[in-house]
Amino acid sequence: MKNLIRNTLAALALSALVAPAALADGPQVFQEQGCNKCHSVTAAGISRATPHDEEAKDLSKVGATHDKKAIALFLLKKTEIDGEKHKKQFQGTTEQLKTVAEWLGGLK
Ligand code: HEC
Repeated sequence: MKNLIRNTLAALALSALVAPAALADGPQVFQEQGCNKCHSVTAAGISRATPHDEEAKDLSKVGATHDKKAIALFLLKKTEIDGEKHKKQFQGTTEQLKTVAEWLGGLK
């Protein structure tokens, strides 16, 4: 029992360490990858930069309907949302994909 509690606490401490990093880097990856050419995230103060012809949704609450895993798979064009694959194949690293998906998944 003691071990269980200790392990749980350790896991909580770890996730507390991991999450804030994703929160801090998510907006940066989002902008580096050009997501803001089509999307805004007004809740995080991100507006559409150099507006693309394609105007896509604001993602301020995307985490309420799609979790980080669903977002990551969608960005890799492995899954569809509303019957369609994403417009743009994710070009960054796996680490960047995780970071941006985790950040967006947390926006509710
Ligand atoms: C060329 C324009 C374009 C770019 C660039 C783009 N997207 Fe999209 N995205 C769309 C369109 C169009 C849709 C589907 C319809 C909509 O959201 O308006 C969409 C949908 C999404 C959705 C699902 C939203 C929902 O609730 O249905 C997510 C999440 C998303 N994009 C994230 C991203 C991320 C992260 C990036 C950067 C890696 C990105 N997009 C770059 C055009 C774009």
